[in-house]
Amino acid sequence: MAGLETGDILNWLRREDEGSLKQLQCLADKARRENVGEAVHLRGLLEISNHCIRSCHYCGLRAPHKQLQRYRLSEDEILESATLAMRRGYGTVVMQSGQDPVIETDWLAQVIRRIKRQTSLAITLSLGESSVADLETWLRAGADRYLLRFETSNRQLYNRIHPSLPNEHSDRIALLTTLKELGYETGSGIMVGIPGQTFESLAADIALFAKLELDMIGLGPFVPHPLTPLGQAAAQIDLASDDQVPNTEKMVLKVLALTRLVCPRTNIPSTTALATIDPTDSYEAGLCWGANVIMPNVTPAHYRQLYEIYPAKICGRQTDTDIHEQILACIRVSGRTIGVGRGDSPAYLARRKGVV
Ligand code: 5AD
Repeated sequence: MAGLETGDILNWLRREDEGSLKQLQCLADKARRENVGEAVHLRGLLEISNHCIRSCHYCGLRAPHKQLQRYRLSEDEILESATLAMRRGYGTVVMQSGQDPVIETDWLAQVIRRIKRQTSLAITLSLGESSVADLETWLRAGADRYLLRFETSNRQLYNRIHPSLPNEHSDRIALLTTLKELGYETGSGIMVGIPGQTFESLAADIALFAKLELDMIGLGPFVPHPLTPLGQAAAQIDLASDDQVPNTEKMVLKVLALTRLVCPRTNIPSTTALATIDPTDSYEAGLCWGANVIMPNVTPAHYRQLYEIYPAKICGRQTDTDIHEQILACIRVSGRTIGVGRGDSPAYLARRKGVV
Protein backbone atom coordinates (compact mmCIF):
# COMPACT_ATOMS: atom_id res chain seq x y z
CA MET A 1 0.00 0.00 0.00
CA ALA A 2 3.00 2.29 0.45
CA GLY A 3 2.97 2.37 -3.36
CA LEU A 4 -0.42 4.07 -3.51
CA GLU A 5 -0.23 6.72 -6.27
CA THR A 6 -1.88 10.14 -6.09
CA GLY A 7 -4.54 8.93 -8.56
CA ASP A 8 -5.42 5.95 -6.34
CA ILE A 9 -5.61 8.22 -3.31
CA LEU A 10 -7.95 10.53 -5.21
CA ASN A 11 -10.22 7.60 -6.11
CA TRP A 12 -10.45 6.52 -2.49
CA LEU A 13 -11.20 10.07 -1.37
CA ARG A 14 -14.10 10.26 -3.81
CA ARG A 15 -15.67 6.94 -2.78
CA GLU A 16 -18.80 7.19 -0.68
CA ASP A 17 -20.40 3.74 -0.68
CA GLU A 18 -20.48 1.84 2.60
CA GLY A 19 -18.62 -1.16 1.14
CA SER A 20 -15.63 0.90 0.03
CA LEU A 21 -15.49 2.79 3.31
CA LYS A 22 -15.51 -0.45 5.30
CA GLN A 23 -12.78 -1.85 3.07
CA LEU A 24 -10.64 1.26 3.56
CA GLN A 25 -11.12 1.18 7.32
CA CYS A 26 -10.13 -2.51 7.47
CA LEU A 27 -7.01 -1.95 5.36
CA ALA A 28 -5.92 0.98 7.54
CA ASP A 29 -6.61 -0.88 10.77
CA LYS A 30 -4.59 -3.86 9.55
CA ALA A 31 -1.67 -1.63 8.48
CA ARG A 32 -1.79 0.08 11.88
CA ARG A 33 -1.77 -3.24 13.74
CA GLU A 34 1.08 -4.72 11.68
CA ASN A 35 3.31 -1.67 11.78
CA VAL A 36 2.76 0.14 15.07
CA GLY A 37 0.85 -2.47 17.07
CA GLU A 38 -1.95 -2.21 19.64
CA ALA A 39 -0.36 0.39 21.90
CA VAL A 40 -1.88 3.86 22.00
CA HIS A 41 0.80 6.33 23.02
CA LEU A 42 -0.24 9.28 25.15
CA ARG A 43 1.37 12.71 24.82
CA GLY A 44 0.62 15.47 27.30
CA LEU A 45 -0.23 18.58 25.29
CA LEU A 46 0.97 21.73 27.05
CA GLU A 47 -0.03 25.04 25.47
CA ILE A 48 2.74 27.27 26.79
CA SER A 49 1.75 30.59 25.15
CA ASN A 50 -1.15 31.87 23.05
CA HIS A 51 0.76 34.92 21.84
CA CYS A 52 1.30 34.87 18.08
CA ILE A 53 2.83 37.30 15.59
CA ARG A 54 1.24 35.60 12.54
CA SER A 55 -2.09 36.35 10.91
CA CYS A 56 -3.15 32.92 9.63
CA HIS A 57 -6.65 33.30 8.25
CA TYR A 58 -7.97 30.16 9.96
CA CYS A 59 -6.60 30.45 13.48
CA GLY A 60 -8.18 32.06 16.55
CA LEU A 61 -4.74 32.94 17.98
CA ARG A 62 -3.88 35.22 15.02
CA ALA A 63 -2.26 38.53 16.01
CA PRO A 64 -5.11 40.77 14.79
CA HIS A 65 -7.52 38.99 17.16
CA LYS A 66 -7.19 41.75 19.75
CA GLN A 67 -10.08 40.67 22.01
CA LEU A 68 -8.26 37.48 23.00
CA GLN A 69 -6.65 37.57 26.43
CA ARG A 70 -3.05 36.41 25.99
CA TYR A 71 -0.93 34.35 28.40
CA ARG A 72 2.51 32.82 28.68
CA LEU A 73 3.33 30.03 31.17
CA SER A 74 6.16 30.50 33.67
CA GLU A 75 9.02 28.04 33.96
CA ASP A 76 7.54 26.62 37.16
CA GLU A 77 4.08 26.23 35.60
CA ILE A 78 5.62 24.32 32.70
CA LEU A 79 7.55 22.06 35.06
CA GLU A 80 4.44 21.39 37.13
CA SER A 81 2.41 20.40 34.06
CA ALA A 82 5.23 18.23 32.69
CA THR A 83 5.41 16.46 36.05
CA LEU A 84 1.65 15.90 35.92
CA ALA A 85 2.05 14.35 32.46
CA MET A 86 4.69 12.00 33.82
CA ARG A 87 2.58 11.06 36.87
CA ARG A 88 -0.26 10.17 34.51
CA GLY A 89 2.08 7.79 32.68
CA TYR A 90 2.45 9.80 29.48
CA GLY A 91 5.78 9.27 27.72
CA THR A 92 6.00 12.69 26.11
CA VAL A 93 5.22 16.32 26.76
CA VAL A 94 4.36 18.41 23.71
CA MET A 95 5.05 22.11 24.23
CA GLN A 96 2.94 24.07 21.80
CA SER A 97 2.45 27.80 21.31
CA GLY A 98 1.61 30.47 18.80
CA GLN A 99 4.65 31.90 17.07
CA ASP A 100 5.83 33.91 20.04
CA PRO A 101 9.19 35.74 19.72
CA VAL A 102 9.07 36.78 23.38
CA ILE A 103 9.81 33.18 24.32
CA GLU A 104 13.57 33.51 24.59
CA THR A 105 15.67 30.81 23.00
CA ASP A 106 17.94 30.32 26.02
CA TRP A 107 15.09 30.48 28.51
CA LEU A 108 13.31 27.65 26.69
CA ALA A 109 16.57 25.68 26.42
CA GLN A 110 16.87 25.96 30.19
CA VAL A 111 13.27 24.74 30.63
CA ILE A 112 13.97 21.80 28.31
CA ARG A 113 17.07 20.88 30.33
CA ARG A 114 15.08 21.03 33.58
CA ILE A 115 12.34 18.76 32.22
CA LYS A 116 14.99 16.33 31.03
CA ARG A 117 16.72 16.34 34.42
CA GLN A 118 13.54 15.92 36.44
CA THR A 119 11.51 13.52 34.25
CA SER A 120 12.02 10.74 31.74
CA LEU A 121 9.72 12.42 29.21
CA ALA A 122 10.46 12.83 25.53
CA ILE A 123 10.01 16.48 24.53
CA THR A 124 8.14 17.58 21.43
CA LEU A 125 8.10 21.22 20.39
CA SER A 126 5.43 22.84 18.24
CA LEU A 127 6.23 26.55 18.22
CA GLY A 128 5.68 27.59 14.62
CA GLU A 129 8.34 28.53 12.09
CA SER A 130 11.44 28.75 14.28
CA SER A 131 14.91 29.73 13.05
CA VAL A 132 17.52 27.05 12.41
CA ALA A 133 19.73 28.54 15.15
CA ASP A 134 16.89 28.21 17.69
CA LEU A 135 16.09 24.68 16.56
CA GLU A 136 19.74 23.70 17.02
CA THR A 137 19.88 25.20 20.51
CA TRP A 138 16.74 23.36 21.65
CA LEU A 139 17.96 20.11 20.14
CA ARG A 140 21.22 20.41 22.07
CA ALA A 141 19.23 21.16 25.23
CA GLY A 142 17.40 17.84 24.82
CA ALA A 143 14.34 18.42 22.61
CA ASP A 144 13.49 15.26 20.68
CA ARG A 145 10.71 16.08 18.24
CA TYR A 146 9.19 18.98 16.33
CA LEU A 147 5.70 19.35 14.87
CA LEU A 148 4.94 21.80 12.08
CA ARG A 149 1.87 21.25 9.94
CA PHE A 150 2.22 22.37 6.32
CA GLU A 151 -1.62 22.73 6.36
CA THR A 152 -1.98 22.28 2.58
CA SER A 153 0.52 21.44 -0.16
CA ASN A 154 -1.29 23.74 -2.57
CA ARG A 155 0.95 26.82 -2.79
CA GLN A 156 -1.79 29.21 -3.87
CA LEU A 157 -4.17 28.13 -1.13
CA TYR A 158 -1.34 28.18 1.44
CA ASN A 159 -0.32 31.71 0.49
CA ARG A 160 -3.92 32.84 0.65
CA ILE A 161 -4.54 31.57 4.19
CA HIS A 162 -1.04 31.90 5.64
CA PRO A 163 0.40 35.37 4.95
CA SER A 164 4.19 35.61 5.16
CA LEU A 165 5.72 38.03 7.65
CA PRO A 166 7.57 41.11 6.34
CA ASN A 167 11.01 40.05 5.00
CA GLU A 168 10.13 36.38 5.25
CA HIS A 169 9.12 33.78 2.76
CA SER A 170 7.16 31.15 4.63
CA ASP A 171 8.08 27.68 3.41
CA ARG A 172 7.07 25.08 5.94
CA ILE A 173 7.74 22.19 3.59
CA ALA A 174 11.40 23.24 3.24
CA LEU A 175 11.63 23.67 7.02
CA LEU A 176 10.42 20.09 7.53
CA THR A 177 13.38 18.78 5.55
CA THR A 178 15.70 20.94 7.66
CA LEU A 179 14.15 19.57 10.86
CA LYS A 180 14.85 16.04 9.72
CA GLU A 181 18.42 16.88 8.73
CA LEU A 182 19.04 18.46 12.13
CA GLY A 183 17.99 15.18 13.73
CA TYR A 184 14.50 15.96 15.04
CA GLU A 185 11.84 13.29 14.92
CA THR A 186 9.67 15.29 12.59
CA GLY A 187 5.94 15.69 12.29
CA SER A 188 3.58 17.59 10.07
CA GLY A 189 -0.03 17.56 9.01
CA ILE A 190 -2.95 19.32 7.41
CA MET A 191 -6.48 20.54 7.95
CA VAL A 192 -9.22 18.78 6.03
CA GLY A 193 -11.98 20.86 4.46
CA ILE A 194 -10.26 24.24 4.25
CA PRO A 195 -12.50 26.50 2.12
CA GLY A 196 -10.94 26.30 -1.36
CA GLN A 197 -9.29 22.90 -0.78
CA THR A 198 -9.96 20.54 -3.68
CA PHE A 199 -9.89 16.74 -3.76
CA GLU A 200 -6.85 16.91 -6.06
CA SER A 201 -4.91 19.05 -3.62
CA LEU A 202 -5.90 16.82 -0.71
CA ALA A 203 -4.67 13.75 -2.59
CA ALA A 204 -1.39 15.62 -3.24
CA ASP A 205 -1.11 16.40 0.52
CA ILE A 206 -1.33 12.69 1.37
CA ALA A 207 1.21 11.80 -1.32
CA LEU A 208 3.52 14.48 0.12
CA PHE A 209 3.32 12.85 3.58
CA ALA A 210 4.90 9.76 2.03
CA LYS A 211 7.48 11.72 0.03
CA LEU A 212 8.64 13.62 3.12
CA GLU A 213 8.86 10.34 5.08
CA LEU A 214 7.41 11.99 8.16
CA ASP A 215 7.66 10.42 11.60
CA MET A 216 4.39 11.92 12.88
CA ILE A 217 1.31 13.15 11.04
CA GLY A 218 -1.54 15.10 12.62
CA LEU A 219 -4.73 15.93 10.81
CA GLY A 220 -8.16 17.16 11.68
CA PRO A 221 -11.13 18.96 10.19
CA PHE A 222 -11.01 22.67 9.50
CA VAL A 223 -13.31 24.14 12.18
CA PRO A 224 -14.51 27.67 11.29
CA HIS A 225 -13.69 30.28 13.91
CA PRO A 226 -16.15 33.16 13.49
CA LEU A 227 -13.56 35.80 14.42
CA THR A 228 -11.17 34.83 11.59
CA PRO A 229 -11.32 35.71 7.87
CA LEU A 230 -11.58 32.06 6.85
CA GLY A 231 -14.23 31.37 9.47
CA GLN A 232 -16.30 34.14 7.96
CA ALA A 233 -15.58 33.05 4.38
CA ALA A 234 -16.68 29.51 5.27
CA ALA A 235 -20.21 30.82 5.69
CA GLN A 236 -20.19 32.22 2.15
CA ILE A 237 -18.11 29.82 0.09
CA ASP A 238 -19.84 27.19 -2.01
CA LEU A 239 -19.14 24.23 0.24
CA ALA A 240 -21.53 22.15 -1.84
CA SER A 241 -19.31 22.47 -4.93
CA ASP A 242 -18.15 19.15 -6.29
CA ASP A 243 -14.49 20.08 -5.92
CA GLN A 244 -14.63 21.41 -2.35
CA VAL A 245 -13.46 18.92 0.28
CA PRO A 246 -16.05 18.78 3.10
CA ASN A 247 -14.81 19.22 6.68
CA THR A 248 -16.81 16.24 7.89
CA GLU A 249 -15.80 13.46 10.23
CA LYS A 250 -16.19 10.93 7.43
CA MET A 251 -13.78 12.81 5.20
CA VAL A 252 -11.20 13.18 7.98
CA LEU A 253 -11.41 9.45 8.72
CA LYS A 254 -10.81 8.64 5.05
CA VAL A 255 -7.75 10.91 5.05
CA LEU A 256 -6.54 9.29 8.28
CA ALA A 257 -6.87 5.80 6.79
CA LEU A 258 -5.09 6.76 3.57
CA THR A 259 -2.32 8.42 5.60
CA ARG A 260 -1.82 5.18 7.53
CA LEU A 261 -1.65 3.25 4.25
CA VAL A 262 0.96 5.50 2.63
CA CYS A 263 2.98 6.00 5.86
CA PRO A 264 2.48 2.72 7.72
CA ARG A 265 5.23 3.23 10.35
CA THR A 266 4.29 6.78 11.30
CA ASN A 267 2.76 7.92 14.60
CA ILE A 268 -0.70 9.35 13.90
CA PRO A 269 -2.85 10.94 16.61
CA SER A 270 -6.60 10.81 16.88
CA THR A 271 -6.89 14.58 17.26
CA THR A 272 -8.94 16.86 19.47
CA ALA A 273 -10.37 18.61 16.38
CA LEU A 274 -11.76 15.29 15.16
CA ALA A 275 -13.21 14.52 18.58
CA THR A 276 -14.68 18.03 18.66
CA ILE A 277 -16.88 17.57 15.60
CA ASP A 278 -18.31 14.32 16.94
CA PRO A 279 -18.04 14.28 20.73
CA THR A 280 -20.24 11.18 20.96
CA ASP A 281 -17.53 8.78 19.95
CA SER A 282 -14.70 11.08 21.03
CA TYR A 283 -11.29 9.75 20.06
CA GLU A 284 -12.47 6.25 19.30
CA ALA A 285 -13.26 6.59 15.62
CA GLY A 286 -9.75 7.85 14.90
CA LEU A 287 -8.24 4.84 16.69
CA CYS A 288 -10.25 2.48 14.46
CA TRP A 289 -9.22 4.26 11.26
CA GLY A 290 -5.44 4.12 11.67
CA ALA A 291 -4.49 6.37 14.59
CA ASN A 292 -2.16 5.16 17.37
CA VAL A 293 -1.63 8.28 19.49
CA ILE A 294 -3.81 10.53 21.68
CA MET A 295 -2.67 13.87 23.03
CA PRO A 296 -4.50 14.63 26.31
CA ASN A 297 -4.34 18.28 27.27
CA VAL A 298 -2.30 19.04 30.41
CA THR A 299 -2.47 22.84 30.17
CA PRO A 300 -3.67 24.43 33.46
CA ALA A 301 -7.45 24.86 33.09
CA HIS A 302 -7.55 28.66 33.38
CA TYR A 303 -5.13 28.99 30.43
CA ARG A 304 -6.60 26.17 28.40
CA GLN A 305 -9.80 28.05 27.63
CA LEU A 306 -7.71 30.90 26.19
CA TYR A 307 -5.94 28.63 23.70
CA GLU A 308 -8.87 28.89 21.36
CA ILE A 309 -7.52 27.96 17.93
CA TYR A 310 -11.12 27.14 17.00
CA PRO A 311 -14.31 27.39 19.06
CA ALA A 312 -15.60 24.72 21.44
CA LYS A 313 -12.50 22.56 21.61
CA ILE A 314 -13.84 19.62 23.62
CA CYS A 315 -11.17 19.94 26.25
CA GLY A 316 -11.97 23.65 26.74
CA ARG A 317 -14.31 23.15 29.66
CA GLN A 318 -13.29 19.77 31.05
CA THR A 319 -10.93 19.12 33.92
CA ASP A 320 -7.64 17.30 33.44
CA THR A 321 -8.99 14.33 35.33
CA ASP A 322 -12.14 14.14 33.15
CA ILE A 323 -10.10 14.13 29.98
CA HIS A 324 -7.61 11.60 31.31
CA GLU A 325 -10.32 9.17 32.48
CA GLN A 326 -12.32 9.57 29.26
CA ILE A 327 -9.28 8.78 27.16
CA LEU A 328 -8.27 5.72 29.18
CA ALA A 329 -11.84 4.42 28.89
CA CYS A 330 -11.83 5.04 25.16
CA ILE A 331 -8.60 3.06 24.73
CA ARG A 332 -10.07 0.18 26.74
CA VAL A 333 -13.32 0.18 24.76
CA SER A 334 -11.31 0.06 21.55
CA GLY A 335 -9.57 -3.11 22.78
CA ARG A 336 -6.18 -1.42 22.68
CA THR A 337 -3.40 -1.05 25.24
CA ILE A 338 -1.79 2.04 26.73
CA GLY A 339 1.64 2.73 25.31
CA VAL A 340 4.61 2.51 27.65
CA GLY A 341 7.74 4.62 27.30
CA ARG A 342 8.54 7.34 24.79
CA GLY A 343 6.72 5.83 21.85
CA ASP A 344 9.14 6.90 19.14
CA SER A 345 7.80 6.10 15.69
CA PRO A 346 9.18 2.98 13.99
CA ALA A 347 9.78 5.21 10.96
CA TYR A 348 12.16 7.37 13.02
CA LEU A 349 13.88 4.46 14.79
CA ALA A 350 14.59 2.81 11.44
CA ARG A 351 16.01 6.06 10.05
CA ARG A 352 18.27 6.45 13.09
CA LYS A 353 19.66 2.94 12.54
CA GLY A 354 20.13 3.64 8.86
CA VAL A 355 17.56 0.97 8.00
CA VAL A 356 14.94 2.22 5.57
N1 5AD B 1 -9.66 24.49 12.57
C1 5AD B 1 -8.95 23.35 12.69
N2 5AD B 1 -7.64 23.30 12.94
C2 5AD B 1 -7.01 24.48 13.10
N3 5AD B 1 -5.72 24.75 13.32
C3 5AD B 1 -5.57 26.09 13.39
N4 5AD B 1 -6.75 26.70 13.20
C4 5AD B 1 -7.67 25.72 13.00
C5 5AD B 1 -9.06 25.69 12.72
N5 5AD B 1 -9.77 26.82 12.60
C6 5AD B 1 -4.68 23.72 13.39
C7 5AD B 1 -3.59 24.01 12.37
C8 5AD B 1 -2.36 24.23 13.23
C9 5AD B 1 -2.69 23.42 14.46
C10 5AD B 1 -1.92 23.78 15.68
O1 5AD B 1 -4.07 23.69 14.65
O2 5AD B 1 -3.43 22.86 11.54
O3 5AD B 1 -1.18 23.78 12.63
